[in-house]
Amino acid sequence: MSENATLALVSPLSARAQDMQESATIAMAKKCRELIAKGFDVINLSFGEPDFQTPQYIKDAAKQALDDGFTFYTPVPGIPDLRQAICDKFKRDNNLDFQPNQIVVGTGAKQALANAVMSLVNPGEEVIVFSPYWVSYEEMVKLAGGTAIPLRGTLENEYKVTAAQLEAAITPRTKLVMYSSPCNPTGAVFSREELGAIAEVLARHPHVYALADEIYEYINFVGEHVSLAQFPEVHDRVITVNGFSKGYAMTGWRLGYLAARPDIAYACEKMQSQITSGTCSITQRAGLAALRGGRSSADEMVAAYRRRRDLVLGIVKDIPGFKTPTPSGAFYIFPEVSAYFGRTTPDGRTINTSMDLALYLLNDALVSAVSGEAFGAPECMRFSTAAADDKLVEAFRRVKASLAKLA
Ligand SMILES: Cc1ncc(COP(=O)(O)O)c(C=O)c1O
Repeated sequence: MSENATLALVSPLSARAQDMQESATIAMAKKCRELIAKGFDVINLSFGEPDFQTPQYIKDAAKQALDDGFTFYTPVPGIPDLRQAICDKFKRDNNLDFQPNQIVVGTGAKQALANAVMSLVNPGEEVIVFSPYWVSYEEMVKLAGGTAIPLRGTLENEYKVTAAQLEAAITPRTKLVMYSSPCNPTGAVFSREELGAIAEVLARHPHVYALADEIYEYINFVGEHVSLAQFPEVHDRVITVNGFSKGYAMTGWRLGYLAARPDIAYACEKMQSQITSGTCSITQRAGLAALRGGRSSADEMVAAYRRRRDLVLGIVKDIPGFKTPTPSGAFYIFPEVSAYFGRTTPDGRTINTSMDLALYLLNDALVSAVSGEAFGAPECMRFSTAAADDKLVEAFRRVKASLAKLA
């Protein structure tokens, strides 16, 4: 009997569903909410969510859309004004030329990424995923029947994969390379030279495409944001993903987009047309206002994220055993925590993994963080720094105290 037939006897769920991991960040947030519901004062640093409100002018545009009765289905790849505004944004911020038929708007960058993976990857093909990676990349590749090939950057290089590493990892079966810059979870930002070298490698391998996740573009502390699509030799083989969740504090609105060659964009549109259709009409009007308003609201938030990063780095440098590269963007720190593996909790349990440590910190320090396993880096742990300053100070005071109790 085939493996699938055996599974069917024990569960009605498809092998695909059984094989899929729940998002670790969402799972940790669930545990955290359970403790909060029981009355515990948990500080949640597990979520990748800005703690800012969506700017008022964006909310006003949504109210206006409702008052205008803008409540009907929209075209699958987005309303024409918004697709044009996204082209204008690419020109203004990234000096990239796209036409509206190259833009597909969907329910968040997450859907844009999934559309692209499902549109490009055939069963059996390999997807090189720069590691540490965002939690959903590997599962999306699995869903498409592909094989994720994690490629690890070194701590000394802020976990950034080099062009030489990429060159060595490409095989005839490689279809796609996926990465985020600024990176979730590490906060690393690829420079022009680094991406230029990666573009050179890709130029030598015309069967390989790239999925560049630029959702944290605006949350950048080093200045220049570079898009892989800016390199002409690979422009047509890069799918650029971006969205509104992080830069405009619009996580709940569910709005993101991709830009790609017309045939790839059309494949993504077809994919979306059969699964979700166009995203919420009101949200799209809000997104249009967001883009027309420029990026000054984002710049204000970035100033706060930078201050908090510095605040947190100042505290964690005194936590023994944490090796924490300085993030250049996004809103996380990603310390290497393996110095605590093998240690024992006050109630006699051994910490063997980053997950054990995250659970210990949740229960003892009442601080929730996400273990590195979910990001392909089992010796690390991710803490969000998108929380109020006093909460961050208190959270890391508690973390330090709880770690000090480990024997
Ligand atoms: C690297 C990365 N890509 C994509 C997403 C998804 O963003 P969205 O809310 O637009 O779906 C996230 C959200 O956490 C992220 O961190």
